[in-house]
Amino acid sequence: MRVGPRGLLGEVVRIDGEIIVVQVYEDQTGLRPGTEVRGEGQPLAIRLGPGLLGRIFDGLLRPLSGSHADHVEPGLRASEPVRLAFEPAVAPGARLAPGALLGRVKTVYGRPQSCLVPPDVGGTVLSVVPAGDYADDETLAVLRDDEGRTHEVSAGHRWPVREPRPIAQRLPKGAPLVTGQRILDSLFPLAQGGKAAIPGGFGTGKTVLLEALAKGCNADVIVYLGCGERGNEMAGVLDEFPQLDDPRSGRPLMERTVIIANTSNMPVAAREASIYCAITVAEYFRDQGLHVALMADSTSRWAEALREVSGRFGELPGEGGYPAYLASRLADFYERAAVVRTLAGETGSVTVMGAISPPSGDFSEPVTSHTKRYVKAFWALDAKRAQARFYPAIHPLQSYAEDARDFAPWWATQGNGEWVELRRRFLTLLDEQAQLERMGRIIGKDALPPRQQLTLLCADLVAEAFLRQSAYSAIDRVCSPARQAAMMKLLGRFIAGAEAALAAGAAPEAIAALPGLRALQRMGEDIGDAALERYAELDARVERELAALQPATAITEEAGDAAHR
Ligand SMILES: Nc1ncnc2c1ncn2[C@@H]1O[C@H](COP(=O)(O)OP(=O)(O)O)[C@@H](O)[C@H]1O
Ligand SMILES: [Mg+2]
Repeated sequence: MRVGPRGLLGEVVRIDGEIIVVQVYEDQTGLRPGTEVRGEGQPLAIRLGPGLLGRIFDGLLRPLSGSHADHVEPGLRASEPVRLAFEPAVAPGARLAPGALLGRVKTVYGRPQSCLVPPDVGGTVLSVVPAGDYADDETLAVLRDDEGRTHEVSAGHRWPVREPRPIAQRLPKGAPLVTGQRILDSLFPLAQGGKAAIPGGFGTGKTVLLEALAKGCNADVIVYLGCGERGNEMAGVLDEFPQLDDPRSGRPLMERTVIIANTSNMPVAAREASIYCAITVAEYFRDQGLHVALMADSTSRWAEALREVSGRFGELPGEGGYPAYLASRLADFYERAAVVRTLAGETGSVTVMGAISPPSGDFSEPVTSHTKRYVKAFWALDAKRAQARFYPAIHPLQSYAEDARDFAPWWATQGNGEWVELRRRFLTLLDEQAQLERMGRIIGKDALPPRQQLTLLCADLVAEAFLRQSAYSAIDRVCSPARQAAMMKLLGRFIAGAEAALAAGAAPEAIAALPGLRALQRMGEDIGDAALERYAELDARVERELAALQPATAITEEAGDAAHR
């Protein structure tokens, strides 16, 4: 709906007989009885097109000019047309199914894109423009459908945000989304087309983690949704992203990024719609056969908007004051993450990562507990770790990845055939560490038997050398799969070697004092992706030091062999 003289954007949210309830998504100052209301003739829709990459929009996909603009003109409809170079892929007479490829487009910014027939239009091509320079709202082709109606197709089209875009078929998940974060890729991996929740109390590092994922993950397109957080929480994205390069391609990061900013100072009702806008944009790129990652910060603020809007209707509140349909709305949203065969016959995916900010960090509250039912990966941020400045503060014992074992073949192709074994070893060590620390607090760590002291030493090493990863380190902020494999295997060999040394009579204190151990702890910061061969050097050095610890030569060889195996 368009409401009032300024044509404020609104959506029908309820029809009671003769009475229509419209939620206006903009500042309603000045509206009064008698004001004119007009229907737009379609559900809340956004205009999709090749000009989205590299830009910043509000929650209803209206362009925000400049990074500091946090408001748009009331009633604004869409951006001015984007210029593009069009290269047709079809000729008159061709039959085009809905969603089929019409040609290729390139705007001044970002990657070349596919220009597809909208998913709800198809037919025989009557005419198509020659290759050249056009605006995204200019007609590029005219189609006649089987009912004899003609359709003018341009590079952009409108799509209702609450309606998932059609696909040919859902496909089984395959490769992981490579995030560049060791603890995620190696311990709690997420498939492309999968969904992950990032719950964490205030200040535990949700925003920093989502930003690190947006910068470092291997998706083709990033849709970053800042939903209801304070404006300064988005400052990192708005100010920093335009300056950064994609660590993989070396191209400006913004070329593959769409930012949707709906901060807490913007109308609360629009926040509810912003999450659907974001996932519709993600689906739009997926339909071009691209892998898209959507980061939403935070789904709690979205749920609060839902609660507020529901409250205004006087709906019966459920758990935590949220409406009873909270769970089904969350399910509808996460359901749109998938790997698909597109209408044009290509493979694309949308991976969703949603931050959750549970009040006082309590994971039993409704948004966290419902989300848990729909996501496969749960990356729990821990306040204690964050306080200790152990980043990323993902708790290895509270987090999980349900499909983790499916990634063993993929990890084998990345040089880590022992991944399942090593992953289990690391997680077991971290679990034992938690138990031993409890016991150590009672009887004193020194009173623990040598075997258990070694367990603590190895678990500390895994935490320091592998889990800890600074988002601000030039070398370590992104860790390639090859490097993760090298580090994981190196740590695995050290652990086996240290156990063999202990069995051969070496004291845990002597192992703890090895200079090579310091080098292991710092290897993430010291040895980058460009110098992977130095991991082998470090391996040899640590092995020498461990071997030198042992008392008798006969045992040394045996233990050395054990370490090799
Ligand atoms: N991975 C990280 N590396 C270094 N510092 C971090 C990391 N994650 C969080 N921090 C620190 O913690 C602060 C709060 O993180 P933030 O992501 O804003 O928390 P949240 O969004 O959960 O409220 C950041 O400003 C930063 O100083
Ligand atoms: Mg935050």
